[in-house]
Amino acid sequence: MPRPVEADVVLACGEHLPAVDVWIVIDVLRATTVITRWFELGGGDLYPVASTSAARELARSLSSAGGAAPLLMGEENAIPPEGFDLGNSPLDLSHELVRSHPCAVMSTSNGTVSLLAAAATGTPVIAACVRNASAALEHALSIGPRLGILCAGRRRRPGWDDTLCAGLILNELKARHPEVLLADSARLALLAWRSSSGGLLESMRTADHAIFLDRIGYGADIDFACEQDAAFVVPMLHEEPEGDGMRAVLRAVVNTARPRPSPSAPEPESGINPDPFAPLLQYAQDKDEKQYFFLGGEARKRAEKKLDWRN
Ligand code: MLT
Repeated sequence: MPRPVEADVVLACGEHLPAVDVWIVIDVLRATTVITRWFELGGGDLYPVASTSAARELARSLSSAGGAAPLLMGEENAIPPEGFDLGNSPLDLSHELVRSHPCAVMSTSNGTVSLLAAAATGTPVIAACVRNASAALEHALSIGPRLGILCAGRRRRPGWDDTLCAGLILNELKARHPEVLLADSARLALLAWRSSSGGLLESMRTADHAIFLDRIGYGADIDFACEQDAAFVVPMLHEEPEGDGMRAVLRAVVNTARPRPSPSAPEPESGINPDPFAPLLQYAQDKDEKQYFFLGGEARKRAEKKLDWRN
């Protein structure tokens, strides 16, 4: 008998992360909206890092490894950190900017940190927001029936914006799978969504971070972030070697729910192809032993052996 669909929600980064099949990480205002936008515009690899200094260092080392410099983007207190090319407004990204940079390095206060926290559990990770909500859900369900939604929140506390987006995704999940088992926190998120009878945008605008962004001149970002299902890309976390260890990199996968172009049809304008890195998503997860997504050297060999043994 197939496992029932289950959903759990972690309302703020820093809370305990339960065992799930896939993490859907949300930071609507604005990290995961910006990440989704980067891929909507056809962007290449995007490296999420945990601090501005790590971002500067990685951007430097990627540039010195040859090729054009990555786009260095992100925020500190919602504004662009010193020396960064761009802040964290999705509206500042353009086709031109994306095309002129082979990749991007991003550091934000909560969003990129949450992506890395989810990755450290050894579970596949998807970046989601209102713009790609349905596509992200569809892709998550194709990975496994136990969904975890990690809301980045703000300063390790829940945020209305992310909770609302989690509720939106759960509402869609419940429509597709009425029998879904919801953890208490998932029920809270669903309640938040269902209480927003005035509409998504109106409710989103009441979030603490939305009020703050509006006050400092980023009000238009909130409208943009609330364009539900405007995007069909699903940013997914992968790992790649870095020295003796591994580093996280986001790449886009096409929404499987969307009709694929026939072989004779031209490539979509965004240039996003089906994910060639899918095999990397084989991950080690064990009930008795904690495994990590970022495995280097010996740890990696041990994990690979374990996967062989399981197969
Ligand atoms: C974050 O990651 O903390 C947010 O994206 C912050 C922001 O964009 O203002």
